[in-house]
Amino acid sequence: MENFVVSARKYRPSNFKSVVGQSHITTTLKNAIKNNHLAQAFLFCGPRGVGKTTCARILAKTINCENLTADFEACNTCDSCKAFNNNASFNVHELDAASNNSVDDIRNLVEQVRYAPQQGQYKVYIIDEVHMLSNQAFNAFLKTLEEPPKYAIFILATTEKHKIIPTILSRCQIFDFNRIQIKDIADHLKYIAGEEKIESEEEALRLIATKADGALRDALSIFDLIVTYSAGNKLTYQETISNLHILDYDYYFKVVDALLEESISKVLMIFDEILKKGFDGHNFIVGLNEHLRDLMVCKDSETIELLEVSESAKERYLQQSQDASLSFLLTAMNICNQCDIHYKASKNQRLHVELALMKLAKVNQAISLAALAQEESKKKA
Ligand SMILES: Nc1ncnc2c1ncn2[C@@H]1O[C@H](COP(=O)(O)OP(=O)(O)OP(=O)(O)O)[C@@H](O)[C@H]1O
Ligand SMILES: [Mg+2]
Ligand SMILES: [Zn+2]
Repeated sequence: MENFVVSARKYRPSNFKSVVGQSHITTTLKNAIKNNHLAQAFLFCGPRGVGKTTCARILAKTINCENLTADFEACNTCDSCKAFNNNASFNVHELDAASNNSVDDIRNLVEQVRYAPQQGQYKVYIIDEVHMLSNQAFNAFLKTLEEPPKYAIFILATTEKHKIIPTILSRCQIFDFNRIQIKDIADHLKYIAGEEKIESEEEALRLIATKADGALRDALSIFDLIVTYSAGNKLTYQETISNLHILDYDYYFKVVDALLEESISKVLMIFDEILKKGFDGHNFIVGLNEHLRDLMVCKDSETIELLEVSESAKERYLQQSQDASLSFLLTAMNICNQCDIHYKASKNQRLHVELALMKLAKVNQAISLAALAQEESKKKA
């Protein structure tokens, strides 16, 4: 049997171009290489799993490449690039500061920095989770960081920029990595699914992308997990929601339909079904509110781009948003919001949600009553 390699490793980008969603960083780095204006100390900040270590390694590989492409990318074929790609290059040193944070660890590193590279132009030191270094270790490092030998480049990476002391910050060129957009993650997953010959439903990929909350690595692990569970080469929306234990958005459409019909009985029965499936009332009400928000942004051509759903689902949102009035949506969101805020304090949480649903079912009535009263008072005046 072929060894299984997790997608996050198998699809680690091998050049700047294939890094997703960080073009502000990759472009700047490429320009610096092009103009020979490379800083010697970098600080890569940003959430986990968005490409910090990846970019650090690509930078190390690119500046040592013997045969840069016209586009200032590593060639991936020269000896140096090959060594990098096999994790066998002597020109890159990675230190995980989370587990090696003592003064001695840093002294070792500083010691190494004194030796010029035997091959290639640069030695690159990547220090991951640099905020974990002890204060003493930081101090032992400062001098080297300030006056490094020409061939040494330091790339410090951290998820917690606020924990980095100012003396370090001021000595580094700082790059802030983005969380990656849902669409970009979904597109990347689609590409990988294609490579792996896995048939995938767009909505399944989008759901995984949403769940990953901006981190591409997380998206890839979820993707692997579901593919393994579904034991085949198909990735469906249904399988994904049951694996991730996410409520099918179909329910929200049904609930809103029932609310617009003003049917208390229907909406209570749907809620009962949701609870029986093991879903939590609080998540349900929050999800319902997000759904109402999505309908709301559909109402205006200017805000419609804030709708982050798959192309195939878009039509359905547009349709339902036509059926609901703006005042209905606003009032309904308000009721859901109140329900969400007070949920934890309620002694009977099921009843708490049911009450909100009953109110929601009567929103349209209340709105027309209010309008009627206004009309009456106008007549009298
Ligand atoms: N921007 C991206 N483009 C393409 N793949 C990415 C990107 N970010 C992350 N990945 C994928 O996730 C894996 C892990 O990314 P990486 O190690 O660079 O994250 P990181 O930002 O260093 O995270 P951490 O803070 O946890 O160290 C990569 O091997 C790659 O497969
Ligand atoms: Mg990292
Ligand atoms: Zn090369």
